[in-house]
Amino acid sequence: MVSNTLKQSFTLPCGVAIPNRIAKSALSEGIAEANGRPSEALCNLYRRWGRGGAGILFSGNVMVDKDHLVNPNVMIAEDEAFLEDYTKLAAAAQAEGTHFWMQINHPGRQSPIYLDKAPVSASDVQMPSRMYAQPRPLTEDEILDLIERYGNAALIAKKSGMKGAQIHGAHGYLVSQFLSSLTNLRKDRWGGSLENRARFVLEIYRNMRQKVGADFPLGIKINSADFQRGAFTEEESMEVIQMLDAEGMDLIEVSGGTYERAAMVGTMQKESTKQREAYFMDFIVKVREKINTPLMLTGGFRTASTMETAIKNGELDFVGLGRPFCLYPNVAKDLISGEMTECSVPTLQTGVAKIDRSGMLQTPWHQFQIARMGKGLEPDPDMDVWMVYEKITGKKRSNLEA
Ligand SMILES: Cc1cc2nc3c(=O)[nH]c(=O)nc-3n(C[C@H](O)[C@H](O)[C@H](O)COP(=O)(O)O)c2cc1C
Repeated sequence: MVSNTLKQSFTLPCGVAIPNRIAKSALSEGIAEANGRPSEALCNLYRRWGRGGAGILFSGNVMVDKDHLVNPNVMIAEDEAFLEDYTKLAAAAQAEGTHFWMQINHPGRQSPIYLDKAPVSASDVQMPSRMYAQPRPLTEDEILDLIERYGNAALIAKKSGMKGAQIHGAHGYLVSQFLSSLTNLRKDRWGGSLENRARFVLEIYRNMRQKVGADFPLGIKINSADFQRGAFTEEESMEVIQMLDAEGMDLIEVSGGTYERAAMVGTMQKESTKQREAYFMDFIVKVREKINTPLMLTGGFRTASTMETAIKNGELDFVGLGRPFCLYPNVAKDLISGEMTECSVPTLQTGVAKIDRSGMLQTPWHQFQIARMGKGLEPDPDMDVWMVYEKITGKKRSNLEA
């Protein structure tokens, strides 16, 4: 049966109407050219996703500084050098009427050491792993330059014909690092009180808005909490969301966790929370009572009935899906038409508890599916988890099992 709830269009505060209520949340693709230029493979991928009927497709995180990257082969938008390529990409993604938004990010300290030997962050607090180098605190001038860079990237999104831009304010990256008192130990106007820690993200938003104008959709993805003692809490998140609401954002997407505590893909949640889907639902219900900005929730949604109920009850306006889009590129269209009632993804078990508990295969296994679509192939739900393990670690399965 057709879902009249999921297929409803929705008008954002800036006046832009989104065709339906299902969005593909940002998924870092890892298939740009080595210098960050949007590739032919990315055009193939987004053309494929564009045929899948989502209301919004968020790009994977696009970097604002070529010297600080989250992954290899990630898109970069630090000046207009790749504008023509972004324009082609936007046209491919939007050919069937879906809206394509650029997600804009800087990894801060959360960039692997083989990519970034001299990371920057709010302060000098290192990730608790030798896979990441010690960051140094950004200077005032560097902070101001970064704010400009986020704004410039949003302008590149607009000039390329994309229909919106989103700040990546979640998952432990630079904006998160400023927000969290665990990683922000600054004593100047960018640290200390929550108001000061939130200054970076608020200034980024204001800079973007000033550059793109009042009628271009701007949003943020933000953590409900970092799920770490002493880090960004639910109460703090609620306050920052209220500050963003007062600024006139068009869409706030709620997620959670960092790459130390990967709550965004369900590795921190109890089995009961996963069963009832939508990991951060309790939080978004409380947010809804306090603000008017449209809301999107991402993490764990798998059944059409749960998605419909959440929207019908007014708890949120958009359902965000991540991993399901890697396996079922038509998931939005099929949930709306009623052809699909569930979009579960495999739990990815190797049988080795340490690997399975860590969730370390979640991102690469899904990125391998993305790479298939970039090559014009369909996803492969039976893709061998050990093949992915061996490729990303360079280690042999037989050594582990011995
Ligand atoms: C392969 C992969 C790449 C991801 N890349 C990003 C990203 O670039 N930006 C982001 O905000 N979230 C990213 N995420 C998180 C997803 O957007 C989403 O929050 C998470 O997968 C939970 O949603 P799901 O349960 O529907 O998969 C990524 C997740 C995966 C699996």
